[in-house]
Amino acid sequence: MLYLKSADISQSEVTPKSLYLNRRNFLAGMPAAFLGARELLSPAERAKAATGLGNLVKSPLSTSEKTSSFKDVTTYNNFYEFGTSKEQPAQLAKNFKTTPWVVLVEGEAAKPRKFSMEEILKLSPLEERIYRHRCVEGWSIVVPWVGYSLSALLKQVEPTSKAKFVSFESYYDLKQMPEARHAGIHLPYVEGLRLDEAMHPLALLCVGMYGESLPPQDGAPVRLVVPWKYGFKSIKSLVKIKLVSSQPPSTWNITNAHEYGFYSNVNPQVDHPRWTQASERRLGEVRRRPTLMFNGYADQVAQLYAGMDLKRNF
Ligand code: MTE
Repeated sequence: MLYLKSADISQSEVTPKSLYLNRRNFLAGMPAAFLGARELLSPAERAKAATGLGNLVKSPLSTSEKTSSFKDVTTYNNFYEFGTSKEQPAQLAKNFKTTPWVVLVEGEAAKPRKFSMEEILKLSPLEERIYRHRCVEGWSIVVPWVGYSLSALLKQVEPTSKAKFVSFESYYDLKQMPEARHAGIHLPYVEGLRLDEAMHPLALLCVGMYGESLPPQDGAPVRLVVPWKYGFKSIKSLVKIKLVSSQPPSTWNITNAHEYGFYSNVNPQVDHPRWTQASERRLGEVRRRPTLMFNGYADQVAQLYAGMDLKRNF
């Protein structure tokens, strides 16, 4: 008998087209809780069950490195609003309600306004960007994120000349996030970037991964991904963005300024007080690999920090 791997057969070969298209529409309309069942589908079926992200532009900013497994990236998470262990967010964020969703972009801007999630999805062509993502705790992943440069959103509101920094705030609701009571960090989760960092093409406004909309534990429905900085700068489930004139607070800096600075650029020469930053372990691998300056994005971003003492500005 000849066994075919599921990846060898396209869905159209086994199911009449009208049927699978109907099923796709049906799945796209399902609440996120049910879409947890996508885990049971083959990767090809899962991609079909997803989410209206449509044809994605392949980004020239992508790394060609092997991507981490969907399972690793969705079951080993930091999302303290849904628990402080790596496994909790996948479980406790399952029913997180992400529709309707609105992001307010305000502050030093000529045209401050709210953006619905539908507007965000249409603002700019969605790209697949495969980035390295390095956590300060010493693990790393390579993820095919979906989104576009944050600058596209910021330009919409026309930052004024007073705007020098950008502050970000996550959704926060103890009813939906009861574990947040035990998070031990400042919440709502807040982060900040200098305006030129936020406008850098690599800074990604992220709405999906692996061709699908974001799973709740990875920051649904919209998050930031700043690949040359430690993972904690990549704030999840964004609800507010504010253009400001002075350096804004950030959750980990408020919680422990000695260990977490404002810049938090990946830097193998500056260790965290508790962890070496010289090497990292990619999820799914055993051997550690050297960590690269700016997480391997030095050619693109080093000039942002020309003349700065990166030991002091860690
Ligand atoms: N955003 C919010 N709102 N809450 C969090 O706890 N954790 C940060 C960051 N964004 C966090 C967050 C940290 S510490 C990391 S390493 C990354 O999310 C992890 O992203 P990932 O789970 O998608 O890998």
